[in-house]
Amino acid sequence: MVGEILPWALEGVDLEGPVLEIGPGPGLVTEALVRFGVADLTSMEIEPAAAELLRQRYGDRVRVETGDAAAMPFADASFSAVVCCTMLHHVPTAAAQDRVLAESRRVLRPGGAFAGSDSRTSLRFRLFHIFDTHNPVDPFTLAERLAEAGFDDVFVDPVEGRFRFRATAPH
Ligand SMILES: C[S@@+](CC[C@H](N)C(=O)[O-])C[C@H]1O[C@@H](n2cnc3c(N)ncnc32)[C@H](O)[C@@H]1O
Repeated sequence: MVGEILPWALEGVDLEGPVLEIGPGPGLVTEALVRFGVADLTSMEIEPAAAELLRQRYGDRVRVETGDAAAMPFADASFSAVVCCTMLHHVPTAAAQDRVLAESRRVLRPGGAFAGSDSRTSLRFRLFHIFDTHNPVDPFTLAERLAEAGFDDVFVDPVEGRFRFRATAPH
């Protein structure tokens, strides 16, 4: 994730200014963003226990918020980038995923980037999530969903096993 997938997923994304990470989980991407030099990072995690662990580990460098990325407490246009890695398939319904997309657009400044990556479904991926939420996003419908959420410059790049996406909040 950190050496290969993240640089690929965030290629060309400006990480200056306030950055929001949604679905940080154990904090692999959080740590990488700090190492990439993101100075103003907020991470929003829905699971209170995971958020607390993250706070203990990175609370001195990262603002960790417990909450749902489908209904965020942040004001409109608060961030210059929103990063979303390996998270959307953990959101249980397509409607809730669409709310995550719409909320990400709302909290972005005009011209800000929403970017990330996720896995494509496979037997192995389904088995891996047998006791976990597994609602994979179809990369071939994601561009339309991002456009419906109000994004411009939508880019979705499916490769074997995963896809990356990038979209811009309108100017
Ligand atoms: C597989 S982890 C991804 C961790 C990290 N982003 C990475 O790529 O290594 C997905 C995380 O998203 C969180 N999550 C799921 N739905 C969420 C939501 N609606 N809002 C915020 N976080 C959410 C889960 O609790 C989980 O910790």
